[in-house]
Amino acid sequence: MKIMWAITGAGHLLKESIEVLEKLSDKHEITVIFSNAGLEVVKMYGYYNKIEKIIGKNPNNQVVTEEEEKYSYPLSGKLTYNHYNQIIISPTTANTTAKIVHAIADTLVTNIAAQSGKGQIPLIIVPVDQKAGEITTTLPPHIDRNLCQQCKTCSAKNICPTNAINPPEIDKSKCIQCLQCENACDYNAIITDEKMKLYIREIDAENTKKLEKIENVTILNHPKEILENIIN
Ligand SMILES: Cc1cc2nc3c(=O)[nH]c(=O)nc-3n(C[C@H](O)[C@H](O)[C@H](O)COP(=O)(O)O)c2cc1C
Repeated sequence: MKIMWAITGAGHLLKESIEVLEKLSDKHEITVIFSNAGLEVVKMYGYYNKIEKIIGKNPNNQVVTEEEEKYSYPLSGKLTYNHYNQIIISPTTANTTAKIVHAIADTLVTNIAAQSGKGQIPLIIVPVDQKAGEITTTLPPHIDRNLCQQCKTCSAKNICPTNAINPPEIDKSKCIQCLQCENACDYNAIITDEKMKLYIREIDAENTKKLEKIENVTILNHPKEILENIIN
């Protein structure tokens, strides 16, 4: 089966989405597309390398970025022609959800959502803002500037296999989330799993509800549900 997986700029459910993407890539041909924010956020969390590995599994797999596609998003017009069987958007930001429920198609991902309906290709959406109220989310890895001593010899920098540590910064485009730096720093300045509380707004939760009214769309609460819900 040929699957297109869209990643938008949400940190929430990102790790879980990539885990499922990896599983699907064992059996299926995958095209990963990114919104501009999606590409940035994936790099901030240090997951780009993992996605490159997933794409490398099959010569027919590919990555398409919003920037490459410019303004008319030709890829979206070719969904049927290129025989995609399933489209998945996970994680889906509040922004992309709001645009989809209002039938706005002005980004690569919202164009793909619109065209999947026009081409009757099943679309799965995993929105991040589901219920109004408090959620806990994980921040991208970073160096705590108050704790970092900018040591002459930085043990975290030395242990990093990709040269991503440049105190007091982590080069997110190089970070591969191996987490070896976390224990190497004597001052515990490398923070890889910091949690933060956020509040989902009513309007964003309402938009998520409205997604259910769109034909051809399956809404799921968690990426792991994708495995039972893709068409076979
Ligand atoms: C580190 C980071 C994490 C983010 N996480 C979320 C998130 O979980 N949910 C969300 O709706 N927006 C999140 N955003 C904000 C979106 O990236 C932003 O609204 C963006 O414009 C969405 O564009 P897109 O929908 O085209 O991907 C995050 C931004 C950053 C920098």
